[in-house]
Order: sequence, then structure tokens, then C-alpha cells
Amino acid sequence: MNNKLRLGVIGAGAVVREIYQHLYFHSDYSGRLQICAVAEPNDEHRNWLGDLAGLPMNRRFATHGEMIAQTELDAVQVNTPDHLHCVPTVEALNAGLDVVVPKPAASTIKDAHQMIQAARKARRFLGIDFHKREDPRIKEAEARFRSGRYGEFQAAVFYMLDKLMVADPNHAPRFFASPDFAEKNTPISFLTVHMADALMRIVNLIPMRVRATGYAHKLTSLRPIALKGFDLVDTELVFETGGTAHILTGWALPNTAWSTTVQSGRLICSDGLLDLGLDTPGLLEIHQEGVVEINPLFRNFGLDERVTGYGISSPGHLYEQIIGRRNHSVSQADLEEKLTPMNLGFYATLVLEGAEKSLADGEQVGRGTTIGPMIDLRKLAVQELGAEVATAYGLG
Ligand SMILES: NC(=O)c1ccc[n+]([C@@H]2O[C@H](COP(=O)([O-])OP(=O)(O)OC[C@H]3O[C@@H](n4cnc5c(N)ncnc54)[C@H](O)[C@@H]3O)[C@@H](O)[C@H]2O)c1
Repeated sequence: MNNKLRLGVIGAGAVVREIYQHLYFHSDYSGRLQICAVAEPNDEHRNWLGDLAGLPMNRRFATHGEMIAQTELDAVQVNTPDHLHCVPTVEALNAGLDVVVPKPAASTIKDAHQMIQAARKARRFLGIDFHKREDPRIKEAEARFRSGRYGEFQAAVFYMLDKLMVADPNHAPRFFASPDFAEKNTPISFLTVHMADALMRIVNLIPMRVRATGYAHKLTSLRPIALKGFDLVDTELVFETGGTAHILTGWALPNTAWSTTVQSGRLICSDGLLDLGLDTPGLLEIHQEGVVEINPLFRNFGLDERVTGYGISSPGHLYEQIIGRRNHSVSQADLEEKLTPMNLGFYATLVLEGAEKSLADGEQVGRGTTIGPMIDLRKLAVQELGAEVATAYGLG
């Protein structure tokens, strides 16, 4: 490897604008990353990142296939929509590149399984950026829970509610929202997977059943552009031990909310309760624009233009693992140990697919509420992957 990891960026939309541009150009990791090429079908997005990275025109591609064939790279980051993670990831792994993907790994377990298999077969690194894994409160909770001090996990309640402006295409300037944002993404794919992943890592359990209730009242009433899609979803998980969780996620909080994302979680166990306090990141601003809680733990901007926080260190640590392996300071065996289905986000995708199936099979009640049936995740895994593969994921 050269001094720097030669990185190709596939997809340069909102997540690159909001998070990864800071990682690439203004973080503690920037010195070790060289953005060598971009693959993006959208001209504006492609040239925005191309200009930022100072890329010549022959390093700006419309497709990942051309980029991989025509550029010397060590790794790619696949920032495409969830259902388009699989093909570029598998093709990059097959071409001998390491791959980083923002959460969720994929929108179906079939895709997630294909990606995991491709990484194992090619003996390359695959990392899924679930930044909450690097949130110090989640990490500490994981270590404390695993020490046994709280006994048996019994139940949990998590919530993660975005301001309406996150999903509302009528809001100027647009945040993550394209006119079809809430049709392409659901609160489950965008938000629930974060909390499900965090919870599953803390308690180290695999979910066996999932059920969802969806509420569609606010987005459908927006004007002039109304959106299809749920404002709020309650996803209920049942683990192999009988432990349960409700994860409430949505994006219809009034824009006067004190934070872009109002979120927290509590775990109730036989010998104690764990309150994650995610709602109190520590910086409260009283200003003529309103009262705003800022989360500098996620992302903070230093006067030296350096951006730090777990939103940056989470993908940064994935790149450190790639660089460590390429410099032989991390062994292949150590790396392969990291390629567990939990680390690779397989179970978060299982929750996502199961919860969306529950809503799709659900019954409409009242005005805009859908109550889904309980989905047996073992059956879903056997149906999608076959009995042998499902068993290998602990779902036989
Ligand atoms: N870490 C986080 O918290 C976080 C936040 C937002 C989004 N995400 C994830 O990041 C991914 C991208 O989300 P986004 O919000 O940036 O979406 P987006 O729609 O804003 O951007 C996706 C980009 O991919 C491009 N694209 C589509 N097909 C492509 C292809 N075949 N090859 C190359 N580029 C292609 C699109 O033109 C677009 O520019 C999703 O998986 C999403 O769930 C993660």
C-alpha cells in the first residue's frame, strides 16, 4: 500500500454531504485517506465531490464498474441507497478491494448474506458504519452489561425521533429530504436499525420475532408536496431468551424540537436498569433561533477545522483496520474474527426486513394506522436463505 489508502467513493449524496466529507477532508483520518475517484450517476453530486477532492475529469465516473476497472484503488466506500449496496460491494470485493458501507448493510438478508460471503471468499475487509457503536455511552453500556452487573436482560424501550424537516421536502433548505425521501427510506431503514444494532450489541442476543405498528398521519398531510410513508413506527423485538424491546422511530416531530434527533433508550434487567441518556449530550444553546441541544459527541467542529466525534471515528476505525491489515500490523486472522454476522450488521438487516414485512402484511385500523403481524425471523431466514445458511446464522 502507498502511504495513503487509495479510496474510491461510490455514491455522493446526503450522507457524504452531512458526514463523510468531514471524514475524508477534515478529520484525524484524512491524512491516511486519498480520495482517488468518484462513481456517481448524478452529475451535480459527482462534480461536487470531484471538485472537493480536486479530482481530474477522468477520475469522475458515472458507474462503479468503470471506476473499479480504470482506477488503481485499495478500497471503496459504497454510499448508495440501501437496496443498491450489494452489487457494488460484491464487485469491489471480487476485484480485491476492501469495502466500507454506511448502515444498514443492506435492505434484505439475501443481499447482506451475499456481501458477507463475498468478503469471506475474497478474504477482504467489509465494514458497516453503525456510528452508535462508537458512542461512548453505548460502548460503556455494552461493557457494563457484559460484566453481568445487571443480570438477565428482560425488556427495553428505545426511541429515535427526527424533526419533520429531516423528511419534509417542503422545508428549505432541504435536509436529507428529496421529494421521494420518505418513500425510499422508512423510519425502520433509516432509524430503527441504529437502535436495534446498538441494543443487540449491548445484550449480545439474536432476535427471533419482530412485529411493527406504523402511523401515517403527518407526512400525508404536508403541502404542497405530500409524502407517502409512516411518521412513526413501533418495532417490537422478541429475543431468543424471551427478552423484548420496543423501538419507536419516526420523523414527524415539530421543527421546534430541541434537537434534530430526540433519542434515548432504557434497558430493564433482573438486577438493574440502564438509562442510556442519549438525550443529554451536554451542550444546550439558548439563542434567538430557539433552544437547541447540540450533540458534539457525534460531530464537533474545531477551530483548526478538524471534525471529531463518533460520527467520524466510527468509519475512521473501519479504515484503520483496513490500513492495519494492509501494513501487516493487524493479522488476517484477527480481521476475519471481526467478520461476524453481528459486526457485519446481518441481524439489523434481519430486523429491518422482518419489520417491513410485518407492516406490508399489516391490517389498516382507524385513519392511517397499520398493525402488523408477528413475523417469525427463523422462518423468514429459512425462506430467504435456505435451512443450512439460516442455521449458520443461528436461525435454524
Ligand atoms: N450513517 C448514517 O447515519 C446515515 C445517514 C444517512 C444515510 N445513511 C445511509 O447512506 C446511504 C446513502 O444515503 P443518502 O442519504 O446519502 O442517500 P442519497 O439518495 O442522498 O444519496 C445516494 C447517492 O447514491 C447515488 N447512486 C445511486 N445509484 C448509484 C450507483 N449505482 N452507483 C453510484 N452512485 C449511485 C445517487 O445518485 C445519490 O447521489 C444509505 O444506505 C443510507 O441508509 C447513513
